[in-house]
Amino acid sequence: MSCQIKEVDLNSLPPADEILSEREQAFFQTLRFPKRRVEWLGGRFALKELVRGVSQAAWKEIELLPGSTGKPILQIRGEKSPLAFSITHSSGWAAAAVSEDTPFLGIDLEKIEHRIDAWAKDFFHPSELTGTGDAFLTALWTQKEAVVKLLGTGLSLNSYDVRCINGKPFFFGAALEAYTRIGSPSITLQTGERIPGFMFTAACGQ
Ligand SMILES: CC(C)(COP(=O)(O)OP(=O)(O)OC[C@H]1O[C@@H](n2cnc3c(N)ncnc32)[C@H](O)[C@@H]1OP(=O)(O)O)[C@@H](O)C(=O)NCCC(=O)NCCS
Repeated sequence: MSCQIKEVDLNSLPPADEILSEREQAFFQTLRFPKRRVEWLGGRFALKELVRGVSQAAWKEIELLPGSTGKPILQIRGEKSPLAFSITHSSGWAAAAVSEDTPFLGIDLEKIEHRIDAWAKDFFHPSELTGTGDAFLTALWTQKEAVVKLLGTGLSLNSYDVRCINGKPFFFGAALEAYTRIGSPSITLQTGERIPGFMFTAACGQ
C-alpha cells in the first residue's frame, strides 16, 4: 500500500489557463477571495502533476469538477477516474496525493502554530490528548482531518466521533457508520514534518 505525494509552493504556480480545462476555468472565475483562488489552483496543480505521471494525460484532460461533499470528482479525458486522491492546503502550500493501490486515501497539512487550550478541548476527545505542545496538537489535527477525508465525510461529523489515539484511528457514532459503509478498511497513519514548520498526515486504508 503506497501513495505518491506532491507539495507545491503557492508562490510558484503556473498561470491558471495553462493547466485548467474550460470547465475548471469557469468554476475558478466564480471564486472571489484571492487566498481561496490560489489554494484551489495550487491543490489542482499538485494533483495534476501526480496524475500526469500515472496516466500520461495532458493538463487539461485531467479535470477536478465540483462534487456534492466538498471533495472534487476526478475525470481523465472525460471519464470518472478510479484513482484514489486527496488534496490539502495550508499557509502558502498545497499538497496532493494519489494511490493506485487503495481506494482509501486522505491527507492533511497544517502549519505548526500555538492554539489555545479551549480549541484542543473542543476539537479533541480527552483520550486523544496523550501528549502536549504545538507540534503534538497540530499532528493530531492533521491525523483527524486526514481520516475524515479518507471517510469522505469531512468535518460534517462531530469531531469526537473520530479519535486518533497514539497514531491509530477509532470510530464512534456517525463516523463508525461511515467507516462501516466503506467496508471497515485497516487504516495506517503516517505523520511527520515533510515541510519544515508544518505537520502532514497521510491516511491510507486497505
Ligand atoms: C475536508 C475538511 C476536513 C477540510 O479541511 P481543511 O483543513 O479546511 O482544508 P484542507 O485544505 O486540508 O482540505 C481542503 C480539501 O479537502 C478536500 N475535501 C473537501 N471536502 C472533502 C470531503 N468531504 N472528503 C474528502 N476530501 C474533501 C477538497 O479537495 C478540498 O480542497 P479544494 O476545495 O481546493 O478542492 C473539511 O470538511 C472541514 O470540515 N474543514 C473545516 C476545518 C475545521 O473546522 N477544522 C477545525 C480545526 S479547529
